[in-house]
Amino acid sequence: MKKTHKSIQNWYKAHGRQELPWRTTNDPYHIYLSEVMLQQTQVKTVLERYYFPFLKKFPTLKALGKAPLDEVLKMWEGLGYYNRARNLHKTAGMVDKLPSDIDELLKLPGIGKNTAHAVATFAFNKPVPVMEANVKRILCRLHQLKTPTDKELWKTAYRLVDKEDPFNYNQAMMDIGATLCTPKNPLCELCPLCDICQGKDESTLYPTKKKRIIPTREQNITIYIYNDKLSLAQREGRFLHGLWGFASSEVPLCASEYIGEVTHAYTHFKLICKIYVSYETEPMQESYFSLDEIKKLAISKVDEKILKLYSSRVSNI
Ligand code: ADE
Repeated sequence: MKKTHKSIQNWYKAHGRQELPWRTTNDPYHIYLSEVMLQQTQVKTVLERYYFPFLKKFPTLKALGKAPLDEVLKMWEGLGYYNRARNLHKTAGMVDKLPSDIDELLKLPGIGKNTAHAVATFAFNKPVPVMEANVKRILCRLHQLKTPTDKELWKTAYRLVDKEDPFNYNQAMMDIGATLCTPKNPLCELCPLCDICQGKDESTLYPTKKKRIIPTREQNITIYIYNDKLSLAQREGRFLHGLWGFASSEVPLCASEYIGEVTHAYTHFKLICKIYVSYETEPMQESYFSLDEIKKLAISKVDEKILKLYSSRVSNI
């Protein structure tokens, strides 16, 4: 194992993304934030649009905990999976500083097994592995695991982790997964784990991929307009809770005007929205906003697309 660790560490020194800002810090809050952002979002997006502005606005865990949720959601706008932002905010309100113990981290809202391990190793140098999607793929190929359980994967990961330098080892594993041990056409000949890998000749077989059928959902959306202002309401259900959005209805209103369609691909379904506009002579909805005022609200990607469609129509009149 020593030899493999050495070659992983050497590979990381030569080819790893060591300059990523959450890799040049040991501030637990910065690391925790990056891990939550990276849970469902690519490095490029996090790096270019979200990580720095969020830290500028909320420089410490304490500042984040004290901020209104609306402001946190606004900084998260467009990143999706807004529960992540709500849980970050909740956690920040609960603790003065992040614990280093995995079991304690797991008690905090939104911190699952992988994030707890990532914070423990990256912020506190604990000799534990991480298990994001890229690492999972490496482990499956390494041991020819086709449909492993979580328990098997963690057991394998714990056996393999470099206890002398877990920080760089874990970052390296993620980079190897992202750049060499890719889902298609892996570059086995360049991989530092090549010597111990059982999957290298047939690595595309592991793990076997399940085909998913993505269902389609349809919605009618009505933009109510009064005095050139648009009606938006703050959502209350589980989905997109806390974000502002346009009203949806089972059937379109008789007096409304159809202006077009907006689609959006979520992870588990595709959404098709038919958009209608209804001009009101009296204010019937709770709150109306000008286009400038809407810019200050946190709205979802779909509502942003709806707004764009509406704005393009208004500017064409
Ligand atoms: N994805 C999750 N954690 C990451 C990290 N520390 N670096 C790059 N990608 C990641």
